Formats: sequence, C-alpha cells, structure tokens
Amino acid sequence: MDVVERILISEEEIQARIKVLAKEISQQYQGETICLLCILKGGLMFLTDLAKQLTVPVTFDFIGISSYGNATKSSGIVRITKDLEESIENKHILIVEDIIDSGLTLSYLVKNLESRKPASVRICTLLDKQINREVDIPIDYVGFLAPDEFLVGYGLDYQELYRNIPFVFVLKSDYYAN
Ligand code: PRP
Repeated sequence: MDVVERILISEEEIQARIKVLAKEISQQYQGETICLLCILKGGLMFLTDLAKQLTVPVTFDFIGISSYGNATKSSGIVRITKDLEESIENKHILIVEDIIDSGLTLSYLVKNLESRKPASVRICTLLDKQINREVDIPIDYVGFLAPDEFLVGYGLDYQELYRNIPFVFVLKSDYYAN
C-alpha cells in the first residue's frame, strides 16, 4: 500500500501475541465467564481475534465513547454515545482497547463501570503508548508498547480509514500533514 511509511507490527506478530495473551487470560479466568467489552470503534479487530483464542466462555458488549476536545488529543471529558446493552452487575468485565494513550478515556470509563457493580474490571490493550500517559491506570494485559508515532491499522484509524488493515503501521506523513 502506498500509504505505508513503515510496518510497525506485522499481522503474524499481532496474531502470535494474541495467542499468548489469550492463554494467559484463559488461565486467569478459569471457571468464569468473561464479558468482553469493546470500546468502539478501535477495539473491534483486537476483540474479535482475541475472543477466537480464548478457551473460557465469553459474552460481548459494546460501548461507544466520544471525547470532547480536539481530534488528536483526548480531553478526559467523555460522553457515552452508545451504552452497554446488558447489565454488568456481578460480571467479570474485560475491557478490550486498541491503544491507551493519555489514559483519560479509560480512567473515566472504569469509574463509570465500577458504579454499575461488576464482579471485576480488567483492561486489555493491544498497544500501550506509555510515554503519553497523564493518569495512572492499571493495565492488566498489554500486547505491545507503542512508540510516540502516529499509528494506524488493525483498528486504529486516520479519518476513519485503515482500521481494516491487518497490521499496525506508520502512515506516510503526506497523508496527514495537510
Ligand atoms: C482511541 C482509543 C482509546 C482512546 C485512547 O479512541 O481507542 O479509546 O483513543 O486515548 P486516551 O488514552 O488518550 O484517552 P478514539 O477516540 O480515537 O476513537 P476510535 O476508537 O473510534 O478510533
């Protein structure tokens, strides 16, 4: 693809890492059912591939979130645009994210979910951009540490495009500079 500056994480690397994470998660939740909670839209690809590798029973739910502020920086003030369909009371919730950056979105969301009295809330993210963290947030499962670059693919978008690409890549700057 002519928009790819550099492939950061290949499809094979992503899938191999997912298998390892799924094994770890399946062991930790032995005997339980996990409610996989996808944060739309970026977490969708990761959630589906991860779910296929889990050996414990899972259910899915989806939450849509819109962050106030400009397009490139999270403000931490978050609006729920699509709420969960099911009650999460007494359920084991595993939040599945594509990337955690400042941590502000998840910090808000975890507080919101905790008020609904789940049995537990854990976080699984494919990418962890630790360098940008503004609030301390405990992450239970991390796929890869992310460099401070503009990344797209495998759920991550630029103007809603490239989410379907099966690898994570650095977009050529010509495509977002203007
Ligand atoms: C991304 C990502 C997280 C959030 C992380 O979502 O999926 O939800 O930003 O940023 P933070 O840690 O700085 O709060 P985005 O708002 O781009 O929406 P999308 O998933 O629909 O692409």
